[in-house]
Amino acid sequence: MDELAELSETVRDASEVVALTGAGISAPSGVPTFRGDDGVWERFDEGQFTFTRFRHDPAGFWADRLELQRAMYGEAYEPNPAHEALARLGEAGHLRAIVTQNTDGLHCQARDRFATVDDGASGASVLELHGNAHRVICTDCDRRADAEPVLERVADGERPPRCECGGVYKPDVVLFGERLPESLFQRARQLVGSCDVCLAVGTSLIVEPAASLPRIAVRNGATLAINTLDTTPLDDLATDVYRRDVVDVLPALEAQILGDRCT
Ligand code: APR
Repeated sequence: MDELAELSETVRDASEVVALTGAGISAPSGVPTFRGDDGVWERFDEGQFTFTRFRHDPAGFWADRLELQRAMYGEAYEPNPAHEALARLGEAGHLRAIVTQNTDGLHCQARDRFATVDDGASGASVLELHGNAHRVICTDCDRRADAEPVLERVADGERPPRCECGGVYKPDVVLFGERLPESLFQRARQLVGSCDVCLAVGTSLIVEPAASLPRIAVRNGATLAINTLDTTPLDDLATDVYRRDVVDVLPALEAQILGDRCT
């Protein structure tokens, strides 16, 4: 893709590149997006998944959460070529971090697939800003556990599901109205504030505070490139906008940066 030539050169020459990703990067893996005609918020009411509802009606919250979780993550899914392209760019030292709003765990899976060092010390750092839907966390003792067995208990009628300590489990994700972990968001702000290139991929860039990250990057002099199917409120700030499928754009970008050995 000739249109990627300039961006691939900019990325190759940059000292720090950070990607901000959203649901669109996982869409080719079969995970639904939130917005748009097939988005989950067309089928579910966002208002049922607030932190306030969780606190006041945890049983009702969990009944709805089970349905949402099955609709989003019920089918087996795998990282797709776009996740893999970012993972390989990270492994090759061309991508400092992936800041993701996704809770599907696919960036970590892709990174682990290509890691040359076992303990996750190589490759791009992955910051899961909104948590991970495959875990739950006890609201009393903070113990984390796999979500699947807990979801089965919810399906069997345990609502709300409880930890051994008696505390109520919460999905280990940031709910509407809940604050992002401050240190994690601070780290994300630092990363975008010091990067030369910010790649915003598969995100509508309308949900704060994540949507503010590309603005911080641009304010600090970074090049912003956006890859989504739909327009975003930040398109005017971007040097490059690719209105194409992530599985076309990112592997092509990776091939231009690393050479054709990966395609
Ligand atoms: N290739 C490129 N872009 C895509 C693709 C694709 N195959 N499929 C979808 N997109 C783009 C859409 O054009 C849209 O811009 O991905 C974006 C998806 O937007 P959203 O559904 O709003 O997802 P996201 O930005 O991650 O949502 C942010 O909203 O409800 C909350 O907590 C939820 O983390 C989520 C947050």
